[in-house]
Amino acid sequence: SPSVGLIGWRGMVGSVLITRMLEEGDFAHINPVFFSTSNAGGQAPSFPGVTPEETTLQDAFDLDTLLKLPIIVTAQGGDYTSEVYPKLREAGWSGIWIDAASTLRMADTSIIALDPINRDVIDAGLEAGVKEYIGGNCTVSNMLMGLGGLFTHDLVEWGTAMTYQAASGGGAKHMRELLNQFGTLHSAVAEDLSDPAAAILDIDRAVLEAQRNDLDATQFGVPLAGSLIPWIDADLGNGVAKEEWKAGVETNKILGRGENLAPGVTSRGAAVPFDSLCVRVGALRSHSQALTLKLREDLPLAEIESIIASGTEFSSFVPNEKDATVAALTPVAATGSLQIPVGRIRKLEMGPEYISAFTVGDQLLWGAAEPLRRMLLISVG
Ligand code: HSE
Repeated sequence: SPSVGLIGWRGMVGSVLITRMLEEGDFAHINPVFFSTSNAGGQAPSFPGVTPEETTLQDAFDLDTLLKLPIIVTAQGGDYTSEVYPKLREAGWSGIWIDAASTLRMADTSIIALDPINRDVIDAGLEAGVKEYIGGNCTVSNMLMGLGGLFTHDLVEWGTAMTYQAASGGGAKHMRELLNQFGTLHSAVAEDLSDPAAAILDIDRAVLEAQRNDLDATQFGVPLAGSLIPWIDADLGNGVAKEEWKAGVETNKILGRGENLAPGVTSRGAAVPFDSLCVRVGALRSHSQALTLKLREDLPLAEIESIIASGTEFSSFVPNEKDATVAALTPVAATGSLQIPVGRIRKLEMGPEYISAFTVGDQLLWGAAEPLRRMLLISVG
């Protein structure tokens, strides 16, 4: 089995990655080498049934050690990638780099890996010697894992997503901040809340007061609990949030559409216009999105539903009825599952080619860890 360097395996995405690799027995196909950015020389982790090549943690900044590896998988983050990756290539490294960070995603040397949707693109890249396989933005990967069938059948003329993104997209500290904010708000009114006779408008006023004055909002910058934040990631200066830009460019790159694709990947057609408005809400780790799609044809609803349901083995169709929707199409229902529920499918008033859809996906599974572990297995053959 090939030696595989694992970097950033202790963080939030990395922990989910390791858990999934253990569940699926992936370690039987690799010789793991565990790295650390802060504790080189410390004890390598012991996971049941896993025998690391080295019993100590290797230094994630030591080029000589990294250079020996045919495959490196990192969930360490974009700063690490920016610092180490160019040096590795400069030193002549010719291995495969599998990365969760966005740094290299839109480079014309890389492929965004989401194999249930773009195995053909990945295979073309491997054949052509492409060495960079990057996990997609969580919202994009989740959307395609749910609705990909419509895109791979080339049925989408254009699309738009209104997102409801969970705190975990910001990181572990953001999740803690949200929960602490909920706690602070509850404490501010706990006494009144326990008194059924207390006036709700007094409680509401006290909550607002606490939101404006008492919440620790170090991570998000403004309160999230009991509120929302209609901007995600950097301000690109043209009215577009970086998360919204990613939705369009990454969707097309994954599908192998448009231009600037990796060597060996011939374009599957013109880019599909896809745009978003991205909103942070107080969910913990599942991103939701409401989509409007203009299809190229007026297809019967039953056909649309069956194309979605069979798009990937992980898309699960939810009938557009109240009971089924509220039971299955929420962050609470979707978290922890590899299934991506898709529902609220109906034709819109604008015309028979216009449909709505709503989908939810665990931001740490298909949104981050799962495409990486699958790409690793593909790359070891
Ligand atoms: N940018 C995403 C978010 C993180 O903030 O929700 C996952 O790509």
